[in-house]
Amino acid sequence: MDVTLSVIKADIGGYVGHSESHPDVIAEGQECMLKAKKNGPLIDYHVTKCGDDLELIMTHSLGIDNKKIHKLAWDTFVNCTKVAKKLKLHGAGQDLLSDSFSGNVKGMGPGVAEMEINERGAESVIIFMADKTSSGAWNMPLYKMFADPFNTIGLVIAENMHKGFAFEVHDVKGHKKVTFECPDEIYDMLVLIGAPSRYMVKAVYSRLSGDIAAISSTQKLALIAGRYVGKDDPVCIVRCQGEFPAVGEVVEPFAAPIFVEGWMRGSHMGPLMPTSVADSVPTRFDGPPRVIALGFQLAEGKLIGPRDMFADISYDLARQKANEMADLMRRHGPFEPHRLPLDEMEYTTMPQVMKKLEKRFKTL
Ligand code: F6R
Ligand code: MG
Ligand code: MG
Repeated sequence: MDVTLSVIKADIGGYVGHSESHPDVIAEGQECMLKAKKNGPLIDYHVTKCGDDLELIMTHSLGIDNKKIHKLAWDTFVNCTKVAKKLKLHGAGQDLLSDSFSGNVKGMGPGVAEMEINERGAESVIIFMADKTSSGAWNMPLYKMFADPFNTIGLVIAENMHKGFAFEVHDVKGHKKVTFECPDEIYDMLVLIGAPSRYMVKAVYSRLSGDIAAISSTQKLALIAGRYVGKDDPVCIVRCQGEFPAVGEVVEPFAAPIFVEGWMRGSHMGPLMPTSVADSVPTRFDGPPRVIALGFQLAEGKLIGPRDMFADISYDLARQKANEMADLMRRHGPFEPHRLPLDEMEYTTMPQVMKKLEKRFKTL
């Protein structure tokens, strides 16, 4: 059976500040999704949150980039924004960058990751969702899952994975894409994806079957809006087991937290902390950035689950490490490498400060 899994998300208001989602907003999202399941077009749905982001996980049979599904997500965000505005939540409607829907939510603020698949006998998927970080945060985790034998032993000892995976990489500033056949081309690929603010892993495919293995949201809010409106807070869908990495190989990269950009005012480097859904409440210095992982089995498009993968106590040490990394970074205050380089900060007073100092600068 062909099923489309669509994950569409937006920050449509935070509680308190940018730290969490209000239960009434989530309840409104659930109400809208329930209607769309009763009356079509959805087969199933799950509504959740990651920090201040509302996450709509939907299954249907209409394929990717479908106008009906995108309009459903857009209308849901609009209805939830009404609730957020009534409660005077912070930044209500902040990710809805347009007043009217044009057929596809891409380029309008929300983040999107969708894949159409032929549902296998057992279809295990994990949906990763992050808050207080940018698209591009999945580059290293996806690399580890699908190209690093120190993370994924299946690449070495599983016959159906030994051929490797193809990575589709997008240059979000140059509006170009290129595909790398891995492991053959990992050195070339790393030159690009090691710079995740520009080059992002959009999708991964099995080289054995050509089937899609992973898809991520690569929308960059600042590029869309031309100004800072909030971090991208990206999502990513990964298929597991069989010819794809096992569930344990897919969640393994997050056991060793890495630094990502985002955190306070979208202008800092901070550790990506894996947490349960309940603990995705970025509070300290508006962070540190969070990642959650929900696991589902698909059954004729029905979402069996979720399992809250990072609720596992085996991620306690990663959280502890992330807190220590956060402390180390906070020690730098307004200095790099905690603060992002000048041209990458989402907030800046540089033009005003330079204007004020213009006449005082003397040639050396
Ligand atoms: C980061 C984020 C927050 C805000 C900060 C200021 O992605 O959302 O750190 O940037 O709380 O928010 P405003 O400008 O809305 O007062
Ligand atoms: Mg926010
Ligand atoms: Mg957010």
